[in-house]
Amino acid sequence: MSAYQISQRPRRNRKSAAIRDMVRETQLGVEHLIYPMFLLDGQNKRVPIVSMPGVDRMSQDVMLREIEECMALGLRTFVLFPAVEESLKDKGATYGLRDDNFYVQTAAAIKKRFPESVLMSDVAMDPYSSDGHDGWVEGGQIINDKTLDILAQMAVVQAACGFDIIGPSDMMDGRVGAIREALDGAGYSQTSIMSYCAKYASAYYGPFRDALDSAPKFGDKKTYQMDPANALEAIREAELDEMEGADFIMVKPALCYLDVIQRLREQTTLPIAAYNVSGEYAMLKAAAAQGWIQYDRAMPEMLLSMRRAGASAILTYFAKEYAQMVR
Ligand code: PBG
Repeated sequence: MSAYQISQRPRRNRKSAAIRDMVRETQLGVEHLIYPMFLLDGQNKRVPIVSMPGVDRMSQDVMLREIEECMALGLRTFVLFPAVEESLKDKGATYGLRDDNFYVQTAAAIKKRFPESVLMSDVAMDPYSSDGHDGWVEGGQIINDKTLDILAQMAVVQAACGFDIIGPSDMMDGRVGAIREALDGAGYSQTSIMSYCAKYASAYYGPFRDALDSAPKFGDKKTYQMDPANALEAIREAELDEMEGADFIMVKPALCYLDVIQRLREQTTLPIAAYNVSGEYAMLKAAAAQGWIQYDRAMPEMLLSMRRAGASAILTYFAKEYAQMVR
């Protein structure tokens, strides 16, 4: 017996698990996740990252075993980041341009063993740069077009070793076009580009820079990464990347920028990826370790919010744990 005349009662669509499952608007599957992994040179190494509990840097042999486990869980897409020894870093990031470096060699080994996996690279100078910046530095400035030559070369070396998707994370102007032209010129027209399209100058990258020891040696990244206050500028970046030939565009970080994901979803027909960055991972892990948050509910809720905002794919350090959880 109702006390009130309420014709629309939304709770009726929530009254049982079966109905809730039927009307659920957003799905979050293992197929949407991209798992970032940190690579070390050498053998039999697994070195924890203090600010990212549960994430380790791994040598190739260890990483191959890790990928085998992930593939068995249905996780097929990985993005690799190299932790390069300080002595190999220089101004021109030349180690990143060598086809015998451990990063591209490992990619080749992974693709040989797991041809059905999808490997995404990081195109950027900072892991190999003695300046810790994503571009060529001269007189305290980041020189855009000189950087493009280096990035384009790096992308070709990565494509040659079997990377399926090239991921420029540098935020230089014109880099998607420069990389597309270099890839096509070298015969890699089937190699994709996922551009870090709206990448913000964010405090949430801190743990990642610990992992790679890649923090800038001077200044900050605000002359190339975006101002957290801007959203229209993200639309402009997306238009440019799309014109220059990007196959996917990425918003990074994800959590503080869900509105940017949603706006881009309305502007472009390209698939959008969200990067659930190291600081977002660290926050949740830290709160969970204190017992202040229920991890197994908070983690999927975080990932689901990115899908609901409009992301097709999510790069996340939670990928393996999520895959284990839903198995
Ligand atoms: C740099 C790069 C960064 C991340 C991915 N690529 C850090 C930066 O721009 O300083 C951050 C990823 C994360 O925090 O999880 N090329």
